[in-house]
This record gives sequence, C-alpha cells and structure tokens, in this order.
Amino acid sequence: MFSSSHSLTGLTDRSGLIFGADYNPEQWPAATWPEDIRLMQEAGINMVTVGVFSWARLEPSEGARNFGWLDHLMDLLHGGGIRVCLATPTASPPAWLGHEYPETLPVDADGSTLWYGSRNQFNPSSAKYRQAAAAITESLARRYAGHPAVAMWHVGNELGQVSYDDETALGFRTWLTRRYATLDRLNQSWGTAFWSQAYGSWEEILPPRKAPYLINPSQKLDFQRFTSAQLLSLYRAERDIIRRYDTRCPVTTNLMGFFRGADYFAFAKETDVVANDWYTDPADPDSHRLGALTHDLCRGLSGGMPWLLMESATSAVNWREHNVPKEPGELRVDALSAVARGADGVCFFQFRQSRFGAERFHSAVVPLAGENTRAFREVAELGKELRSLRQVAGTSCAATIAVLFDWESWWAAESPDTPTNRLQVLEQLQAYYAPLHRRGLSVEVVHPSAELGRYGLVVAPSLFLLAPEHSNSLAAYVRGGGQLVVGPFSAVADSNGHLADGRFPGSLADLLGVDGEEWVPLASPVEVRFGPIQAVQAHIWAEDLALRGNTGKVMAHFGAGRLEGRPAVVRNCHGAGSSWYVGADLPAEALELVLADALAAAGIASPLTAPLPDPVEAASRGGHLFLLNHSARPQEVGLGWTSVDLLTGTAHGPELTLPPFGALVLKEPVPTQTGAAELSNLKNDRNRGTA
Ligand code: GAL
Repeated sequence: MFSSSHSLTGLTDRSGLIFGADYNPEQWPAATWPEDIRLMQEAGINMVTVGVFSWARLEPSEGARNFGWLDHLMDLLHGGGIRVCLATPTASPPAWLGHEYPETLPVDADGSTLWYGSRNQFNPSSAKYRQAAAAITESLARRYAGHPAVAMWHVGNELGQVSYDDETALGFRTWLTRRYATLDRLNQSWGTAFWSQAYGSWEEILPPRKAPYLINPSQKLDFQRFTSAQLLSLYRAERDIIRRYDTRCPVTTNLMGFFRGADYFAFAKETDVVANDWYTDPADPDSHRLGALTHDLCRGLSGGMPWLLMESATSAVNWREHNVPKEPGELRVDALSAVARGADGVCFFQFRQSRFGAERFHSAVVPLAGENTRAFREVAELGKELRSLRQVAGTSCAATIAVLFDWESWWAAESPDTPTNRLQVLEQLQAYYAPLHRRGLSVEVVHPSAELGRYGLVVAPSLFLLAPEHSNSLAAYVRGGGQLVVGPFSAVADSNGHLADGRFPGSLADLLGVDGEEWVPLASPVEVRFGPIQAVQAHIWAEDLALRGNTGKVMAHFGAGRLEGRPAVVRNCHGAGSSWYVGADLPAEALELVLADALAAAGIASPLTAPLPDPVEAASRGGHLFLLNHSARPQEVGLGWTSVDLLTGTAHGPELTLPPFGALVLKEPVPTQTGAAELSNLKNDRNRGTA
C-alpha cells in the first residue's frame, strides 16, 4: 500500500484537499443531474462517490447490463470538473439474487434468514454471491477504468456482514484446517476438554450458533477472526479485479472506525487509502473526542500517511433513536477536526437528500429545502476554507504518543464469561485518551506490533490478550528508555483466550513490577488514595495487587475495605524507562494524575501554555496548530505565542477567544536552536510542576 501512484498524493497534488459527497443520482430524474453538478461546483465539491447502491439499476436481471445512464452521468461529471470515486455496488444485492439464490442471504446465529428489502443482505461465504459480485465488478472496471472522471475506486460499503449458515460453516472449517492442521491441535486450542466439547471430525464443527448456555470463548474468538478474514477477502477479490483494468487510481473501502466486526489493521494493509466514515453525535458533548480518537486511529492505520474522511453528515443522521441536528457552524469544526488529524479530504453522506427510502430523514449537502439553506451555505463556506488549506494536504502530524489497540484483544476481552461486562474496551480507550486530547498532544492509535521506539510515551489502556512477542517488545521499549502506561485487566489471556497461569498481569508482571492475585469487580465504590490528601473512587473494578521486586513505587493505594492499603497504581523502573500499572477503573481526574506523571517523565508537553477549556480541541499538523471550539459558547484559550490564522490571515495570541464553533489554523512558531532548548526546558519544568 501507499505507493505514490496509489495514494491520495496524486489527487491532492492537483486539487488540494478532497471535498466530496456520496451521490446517488438514480433516485432522481436525469434532468436534475446538470443542476446537481452546478450545485457541486458552487459548493466547491471536487469528488463524488457514485454507484454504492446501484446494483439493481446496473444489472436489472441476472447477467443483464444497463450502463447507459452511468455513461451519461460520468461524462456529465467529467464535463463539470467533478472527479468520481466509483463504487462497486456489492453492498446491496438486487432482489433477484436473493430470490433466485437464497444461499446468498445471511443467516443469523438463531438460524433466521436476513431477507432483502433492506441492504447488506449478502452472505460473505456464499460462492454464488461472490461470483455475482465479481461479475458486476468486472463489468464496471472494464467499462470505466481509464474514464477521465474516475479518480478512485470504492469497494462495497462498510463491509461488516456476518452469517452462521451451512456454507459459512464449510468455510469456517477450511479456515480452521489451515490454522490448526489437526483436530488434536484444534481441540487443545479451543480447550474442548471443558464441558465435553471435544470434536472427533471436522464436520462436527459449527459457527458459534445460538446455544443453551455460554459458548466456548476460543471458538467465538476464532469465528470472529474468520469472519473478519472473509470480509477482507471480499474486498481483496474486488480490488484485484479492478487492478487488472486500472493500475492508476487508488482502491479503497470505507471503514467504520472502532467497528468491532473486522480487524482494520488487516484491512489497512490492503487498501491504497485509509477511508473512514465518522458521524458525530450532536447530542453528546463528548462526541468530538471520540471523533478525534477515531481520526487518530485512521492515522495509525495508515502508518501516519494522510487518510480520507469518506462519510460524515452535514447535520442530523436518521439512525440514532433521537436524531439531533448539528448546531450552526458545527459541520465546519467537525470537518476541520478530521483535517487537523491527518485527513486529506472530507466527504459527506449524501449530496442530495432522499425523498424516499429508509434514509429520507438523513441530512444532506442539498436538503429537500434546496440550496438556500444553512446546510448548503455552510458546506459551500467550508469548501472555500478547504481550498485555503491547500498547503496542509500531504503533511503529517508527527505523533509522539502511541495508544495501543488490538481488535483480537477486543474480541477476546468482551466475552460474557469474564468477571464483569462493565469494563468495556472502548470506554477504557477513551478514558486514557482524554488527558492526552485535553493537552492537544499528537497521538496515533497503533497495533502492539508497531515499532514503538519512535514514541516518547506508549499507553496500553486495555490489552486483555497479549502475544508473547508483543509483551517482549513492550519490555524492550521500556528498558531502552520508553515510558509505558498499562490499564487494568491486561495481559490476561493468550491468543486462544486461555488464561495466563500464575500471578497477573502474566507476561507483563516483571516489567510492571506488580504481582496480582485476584480480580475484584466492585459491589460498591472503593476509595483510591493518591498521597495523603487526594482521593477518588473506583466504581467497577479493582485488583488485589502487591509490589513485585523492589523497583516499584506505589503511586496510589486502595482505601477502606478488603483491599485497604494495597497498591492501586504502581510506577516501576525498568532499565532506562518507567511503567505505570493501573489496577482499577480510575475516574478522569485520577487518570489525569497518572498520565501527567508519565508525560513529565517522557518530557512531552502541550503546545499551549494554559490547559484547554473542555470543548476546545487542539491538534498540530504540518506546522499548523488547529484550534477548534466544539461548543456553542465562546472559549478563552491561552496560546502563549502570537500567530496568523491561515483561514483568514488575521493575527492572534498570546491569549485569544474562539467564537462559538470557531476555528483557527495558526502557523506554529519555528523554534531557533537556543529557543528550542529553552522551550523544551520550560515544557519539562511545567510538566514537573515547577513553572
Ligand atoms: C453509513 C453508510 C451510508 C449511509 C450513512 C447514513 O453508515 O455507509 O450508506 O447509510 O451511513 O448515515
């Protein structure tokens, strides 16, 4: 991936940041298309995603082809200077496919078929579905590869379907034979000595279908791996067909951020551009922080290279229970947050609001009320601003902090047989990310196998499953001078989900200097004391820990109760670096303390002199500091230096006020050599609390 010919560079070099939308013109008479193109031009849109849901139109009956309308549309778009991200239509098969070939339909864990009349009604393991998807992909690629409008290819849509049918069972067995070779090894890896689950032949093995009681966790973990691999193989099959006809344009598929159903580290290796869909929840004041974390995941997935925000909403979505529209100005800061965190383009779902179908009430660039609307005006203004940010395209964010995340560990951690279902992986991730985000620090979410040496601080909020090579690399990182923070219930299991023997946290116990005996889900909150005055409460989780060896220092201990006086947070020295192990679910103010200590040890300081007010986001990219106010109230920001806003050319600082949903893109000072040393001393002093 990421060869220059197959990345965003080729596109942004010519036109600056991508600004786009999903365009579903089949819902409208062809007579409206020229008007759509005029509106795209007016909004500054330079790419549209076409054809995501066009299968029935392109192939009205098996084997038939109807491309005339698309030929016409592609030419119109090209004539209007709008590039096309051309989608294969395979996310929503036509009714005839499900009707004629019911085996193409997915079956849930209860054995119920999921019928057509919606979308995503495909069984990833169905040979017939794969054959039909390949055929329409091939026709499309053959016809449009080389069309001057085509700039990118978009395989399917949000690949995430799962099926438990018989054909899937066959595929699962084949996958298991490759993984284990012998039934003996499978039986051992799945721990089938438990509850008399031993398999005597491959044919007996099933996907984890609905069962009377708890299902074997190792079987479920493998089925999750298999499903993710099946989805990826669907992507690969279509991509390979496209590549046979088009060797020029990047091929991608739209991811869904922290979507549990597929391992996106594996996907990212196969896509030319990491493309992601992110929908802020305007009703949730913290949604922008999860957005930032998701964008930092995209940067981690893309190895630090620019990525693409493939879908976002101009205002309300239609699929939450209560769909609050965005505030005036909110779509702008949402979009700029993605750009600040490495996106080389921002696209909306969708261009023109549907009058019918299940997304009638979803917002769009052009709402039913037309172009004289707030949504359209704000999109057009954003289009202008993105043009003025042209120089940001292709630049990096230079992260100094890694947050570790692993899909396999996520799958394994959240199993109904664990001591609690309240310690959720994503919640842990967000809790440990928040203090970094509040300081405007540059973070990448990466896999534990990433090269860690380039980060000053590594944070591992929740790695329930940890392979020996990854715990070795964490130990080597700390020994070599790195700083590592590890959250609770980590290094619990191996790749089969079998628990580590002995005292916990298993393979990390020496590195972290702790010795754990019992996990303690809490019936009622327990106090965690940081020194004589500061106390907070853990609500869900505690661990019965002791120090291991003599290099550790107790940073916090438990208050009254069965764990009284026992360590809750341990800071340990290991080689040239240090580690922090947190044996409880700490509230935000306590994680602030732990991470402040780790950041100080790493010598990492915020780019701002004063703490950021909560709804303000700060992120550095390409020598610019983006300051974004995600609230409807003005916010004071202590910048500490003066600068000029790239969007307006206005000077700001050292103190400034961001208006409601205001945004600034400030040129960062280039420190002189002595200045750089002074700045770094100042930052270190500030971190140690001496300035
Ligand atoms: C996405 C999907 C789009 C559209 C959108 C609505 O998840 O890819 O096709 O359904 O949601 O918000």
